[in-house]
Amino acid sequence: MKQIDLSVNLAGLKLKNPLMPAAGPSSRDGETLLKAADAGVGCIVCKTVSVKPAPVPRPNMMVVDRAMLTTYQYISINGNTYKITKSELQTKSGMLNTELWTEKTLEEWLEKEYHIARKASLPIIASVGYTPQDMKIIIPKIAALGFIDGIEFSTHYIQPGLIRDITKTIKKFFKGLVFAKLSPHNPETLIQQAKEAESAGCDGIVAINSFGPTLHFDIETCKPLLGSKFGYGWISGVPIKPLAVRCVFDIARNVKIPVIGVGGIFSGKDVIEHIMAGATAVQICTAAILEGPKVYTRILNELVDWMKEHKIYSLKEVHRLYIKKIGKGQKVRTKGGYSKVDEKLCKGCHSCEPSCVYGAISFKKKDEFYEVCFIDKNKCQACGLCVSICPTRAITIQW
Ligand SMILES: Cc1cc2nc3c(=O)[nH]c(=O)nc-3n(C[C@H](O)[C@H](O)[C@H](O)COP(=O)(O)O)c2cc1C
Repeated sequence: MKQIDLSVNLAGLKLKNPLMPAAGPSSRDGETLLKAADAGVGCIVCKTVSVKPAPVPRPNMMVVDRAMLTTYQYISINGNTYKITKSELQTKSGMLNTELWTEKTLEEWLEKEYHIARKASLPIIASVGYTPQDMKIIIPKIAALGFIDGIEFSTHYIQPGLIRDITKTIKKFFKGLVFAKLSPHNPETLIQQAKEAESAGCDGIVAINSFGPTLHFDIETCKPLLGSKFGYGWISGVPIKPLAVRCVFDIARNVKIPVIGVGGIFSGKDVIEHIMAGATAVQICTAAILEGPKVYTRILNELVDWMKEHKIYSLKEVHRLYIKKIGKGQKVRTKGGYSKVDEKLCKGCHSCEPSCVYGAISFKKKDEFYEVCFIDKNKCQACGLCVSICPTRAITIQW
């Protein structure tokens, strides 16, 4: 049986697998980072440090909506079977945060936290912010540690146009790898920033930071749920995955340096999507906040399962696959086409029926027990919604 190879080469840095914690609560100190290392990540990324500790408002994190997912597991001990109930917090609507950067001083990180994180014996990336002046103070101190492999600088709170200056300043004091972490902007600005980082000497791009500001408040009290001035927060998690994947794709096909994808990764399949879109490695924040460090082990297992199932033995085989296939764009069709059902795959679940805005879907009897989906070719407008809803991939569009 061929071995699955999860290793990646990130701008010369050899990683045993592409997973890293992202800068955030799950990288908030050395001990927390050791837990991520125990759970299997391939590289460590630390919480953003700056010249001053962040004045973090309280409260500073919330889920937009939540659902408790309850699962049951049966275990057998000495011939007796026990039922274990597991409840996990899930959110499909994402998280808002106003956490800024670390509340620890730079000295605390330099004297304690980086040294603890180092015990993991994994490559370490320090995250820093924000201005070129800040870099002159922070970078020589981090460089003096002698064991930091990379520096990721956040562009979250800086004016556009400073990326070149920041990169040059970091490069002056630090000989390791430098990554620019970009926030999601309009496509032109983002590509322009990635190109600016590349031409200034950056070794890679991290995309994306959380998106915002956004607002969600409590309608029962009509008061903010977060402690920032107006209750604003930055959204992360599941809802930003398509935004992140688009940014990764746009950046990866416009620069030659590697991209680290971050945004909405909750599963092994999400990792594959980021890698196909052009990411060399990935970071995880919201999923690690909600699920704890075991999330990395779960996602690594799912990644291996997906690869086995698809007979893919190295991540190189899927890296940039979407760029290779669609990098030049696909033919845009504005007419024709209709959805077709593969009756062998349709389970008659009716999921597709209510959302067919054109009334093209009905169900007919397949046999004594089962029904099967029927799509009226003349009513169907090939909008594609049913294709995305069908749980068994029974519907495809025909041209
Ligand atoms: C509570 C919280 C704190 C964060 N703190 C930082 C930070 O200090 N520095 C940074 O560059 N990004 C920070 N981020 C952004 C994450 O690193 C990541 O880019 C973003 O959340 C998208 O990934 P996700 O969808 O996996 O959460 C933070 C995100 C959250 C949710």
